[in-house]
Amino acid sequence: MASARHMGAAALMVALAVLALATGGSAKLQHEFYKGKCNGSDVEAIVKSIVKARFAREAPIVAYLLRMQFHECAVNGCDGGLLIDGPGTEKTAPPNLSVKGYDLIAAVKAELERKCPGVVSCSDIQILATRDAVALAGGPAYKVRTGRRDRRQSRASDVKLPGSEYTAAQAIAYYAKLGMSAYETVLLLGAHTVGATHCRAIKNSRLYGYGGKMGVTDPAMDPTIASVYKKSVCPNVTRSDGNTVYLDDQWSALKVDNNYYKNLQRGRGVLLVDQNLYRDGSTHKIVDQLANNNGLFQSQFAKVLVKLSEVNVLTDKHGEIRKVCNKFN
Ligand code: HEM
Repeated sequence: MASARHMGAAALMVALAVLALATGGSAKLQHEFYKGKCNGSDVEAIVKSIVKARFAREAPIVAYLLRMQFHECAVNGCDGGLLIDGPGTEKTAPPNLSVKGYDLIAAVKAELERKCPGVVSCSDIQILATRDAVALAGGPAYKVRTGRRDRRQSRASDVKLPGSEYTAAQAIAYYAKLGMSAYETVLLLGAHTVGATHCRAIKNSRLYGYGGKMGVTDPAMDPTIASVYKKSVCPNVTRSDGNTVYLDDQWSALKVDNNYYKNLQRGRGVLLVDQNLYRDGSTHKIVDQLANNNGLFQSQFAKVLVKLSEVNVLTDKHGEIRKVCNKFN
């Protein structure tokens, strides 16, 4: 009897260890982790009020934060590594040079340090702030677990982010490494429902060199839109490289909704990787489903953002709680 109980306990320990591995070490994340830990202040309410004030004067903050969450969590996990300043850090890697929103994270951190020094991690602030901005932009309101800690490492050489010219298969393979399915890949790209890209990301791949052929425009692109891009926004001259194009229709470019998928159906996806989701047989149907059902998009988008927010996090005694987000302690 005693030995059976012993074996039962051992089996439970193994099961728990497997669970911890399967959840990428996020077993210690909790809802409302900071409750009662900040000298009577409500950490999540403080984050929300600062995000709300910023959103009121600069609505594109939602795009900055969503992109930041992706670039943060896809590189060694959601560990604040992207926030570190200095030569050779993640921030200095080419795909991160156009990431914005660091000042908002710093402002939230400064306020929280005033209320309860050394308690709230920068990586949690990133996830909470993104969550709040998404809801303010008409997207889903969702709960996130907290208790992340900040990594004492940030290397530009670790930054391997997907290319804007990826096929759907390449995108799926990339996200599979983060534990995501094909369905979740299509959902994640739905973040392109907000924000903008620079012309340099579409000039060669879509407007003037599709398929590696000089002068060829992607035949899947709606000709009316292609002509607007070519004539006015992204003409074929170097100085247009830095001009910007909304990733969704202008009226919807600050709204978290499923209009992005409707655009893919009409050949109005902006990046090649976006339009490829509709070109490819394996993801075409998922795009149709999400385009036809905003409620489905909202609920599933929340789930995938939560899943992304828990990739390879540090908890417990690992890492540190930084004093400022752009420097290790
Ligand atoms: C295959 C995957 C992806 C590729 C190749 C990709 C590529 C890009 C590119 C090239 C831009 C424009 C950057 C610029 O010109 O400044 C961009 C913008 C953006 N991306 Fe992605 N992205 C991908 C996935 C994601 C994911 C998963 C998210 C978030 C969950 C995301 C969120 C955003 C947002 C919100 C913007 C607009 C940023 C702004 O307006 O400042 N992207 N992406």
